[in-house]
Amino acid sequence: MTAKKIYIRSFGCQMNEYDSNRIVDLMTGGCGYEKTATPEDADLIVFNTCSIRDKAQQKVYSELGRIRHLKEENPGLRIAVGGCVASQEGRAIIERAPFVDVVFGPQTLHRLPSLLDQCAHCRRSQVDVSFPGIAKFDYLPRPHVDGAAAFVSIMEGCSKFCTYCVVPYTRGQELSRPVSDVIREIKELADQGVCEITLLGQNVNAYRGTLPDGEEIDFAMLLELISALDGIERIRFMTSHPSEFTPRLIDAFRRLPKLVSHVHLPVQSGSNRILELMKRGYTAERFEEIVRGLRQARPGICITSDFIVGFPGETEEDFEQTMEMVERVGFDASFSFVYSPRPGTPAASMKDDTPQSVKLERLQRLQKANDARAAAISEAMVGTRQRVLVTGMSRKGGGMLAARTDNNRVVNFKGNLDLLGRMVEVLVTEVRVHTLAGELAGKPAGA
Ligand code: SAH
Ligand code: SF4
Ligand code: F3S
Repeated sequence: MTAKKIYIRSFGCQMNEYDSNRIVDLMTGGCGYEKTATPEDADLIVFNTCSIRDKAQQKVYSELGRIRHLKEENPGLRIAVGGCVASQEGRAIIERAPFVDVVFGPQTLHRLPSLLDQCAHCRRSQVDVSFPGIAKFDYLPRPHVDGAAAFVSIMEGCSKFCTYCVVPYTRGQELSRPVSDVIREIKELADQGVCEITLLGQNVNAYRGTLPDGEEIDFAMLLELISALDGIERIRFMTSHPSEFTPRLIDAFRRLPKLVSHVHLPVQSGSNRILELMKRGYTAERFEEIVRGLRQARPGICITSDFIVGFPGETEEDFEQTMEMVERVGFDASFSFVYSPRPGTPAASMKDDTPQSVKLERLQRLQKANDARAAAISEAMVGTRQRVLVTGMSRKGGGMLAARTDNNRVVNFKGNLDLLGRMVEVLVTEVRVHTLAGELAGKPAGA
C-alpha cells in the first residue's frame, strides 16, 4: 500500500512553524503519512494559520479558496485548518469554507489523527479548539532532527494581554513544560548531533519549573541547566519579554558562554504613554536599562526588536520618542509593523484617528533607521573573528560553506564538508548584499 501524503503550510511565527513540524512528526510517525511539497499530490492538506495581523488572517481564506478545487477533483482529500485563526474562529471557518474537514487549535494538534477518524466515521466536519493544558507534548512523538540546529518549546501561551494582541486568546494562558521533559528532549537532540538549540515561547522568561527536590526554578536557572549539557554548544531563545528580564537573566549572559550574543527583545514603542496604553508593563527607561545591563554583561551583544507604529492615538511626538530610542539603543535588524486592529482586543475599540498614509510614512522612517544600523553592524563585523555554526553548502556553490553567526548573519567561506554541523571560527572579510564573506580561522576540537 502506498503511503498517504500530507502537505502542510505554516502562516505564522516560529512557534507556529515548530507546531507544523510536530504535526508532520505525528502524521509521519504513527499514522503512516509521508510529507509532500505539492498540495496537488496530497491526501491531507494542513494550513497552520496565524491571526496576529489582519493580513495574515485574510491570507488563510484566500489560500483556502485556491485549494478548494482540489477537493472537487479528489473527494478523498482531507483539509484541516489549525493554528491561531482556527483557535479564534472555530466553527466559523467551516461556515465560511464548508469544504474544510477539521479545525484544530495550537493546543489540540495532537488530536488531529482522531479528529480525522471521527470526520471519516460521521461524515461531518470536526472542530476542537479547546485548551487542554500542556497535554499535547505527552502525545507527540520524539522530535525528528534535521541538521545541527533545533527548536524546543519550553512554554506555551501568553498571559500578558497586551491590548492589541490576539495571542492570549488563541493560545491560552502561560504554561511551562516540566523541567525534566525539556532537559530530556534537549539531551535526545544532542545525542542525534544537534549542537544549537533555540528555546521557544511567547515569553520564555515567564518560564517556571520544579526540580525533583522541589526547588522552584526560573528561566535563568533553566538556561544554566541546559548550558551544562554535553554536546549543546550554542543556546538561543525567543521571545523574551522586557517586563520579566530579571538581573539574574542579565547575569546569565556574563556567566554562560554558550548563550549567543544576541537577544530579541520586543519594545513596541519608545513612548511611555503608548507603552501604557499597550499595557506592556515597562517604561522606555526600564527597557534601556535592561539593554545597558546586557551590554555590560556581554560587550558587543546585538539587540533586535519588534515595533508597532500607528497604535491608536500615537502622535507625532510619541513616534519621535520611538525614533530617539532607536538612535540611542542602536538595534540590529528588527521588525516593524503598522498596527492592525484585532477583533475582541481592547485596542480595537480605542479611538484611532491617524490616517493610514501617516502610519505608513512612520513605518518607512523607522525601518530605514533600523536597516541603516543593521548595515553598520555588518560593516563593523569585517575584520572580527566570529563563532559560527556551519549549516550547509553556500547557495552560490564553488566549494563554499554557509554558516550562521550569533547575530543571525549568514557567512560564506571555503571549507571542507566535514565541517557541516560543527561550530567553527571565521574571520569576516567582506559584507555582501545579504550575506558576509569570510575565511576559516579556527577548527573545532578534534576536526
Ligand atoms: N510575545 C512577543 C511577541 C509576539 S507577536 C512579545 O510580546 O514581545 C510578534 C510581534 O507582532 C509583536 O512583537 C508585535 O510587534 C507584533 N504584533 C502583535 N500584535 C499586533 C497587531 N495587532 N498589529 C500589529 N503588530 C502586532
Ligand atoms: Fe502578545 Fe503581549 Fe503576549 Fe507578546 S506578551 S504574545 S505581544 S499579549
Ligand atoms: Fe501568529 Fe499565533 Fe504565532 S497569531 S504570531 S501564529 S502565536
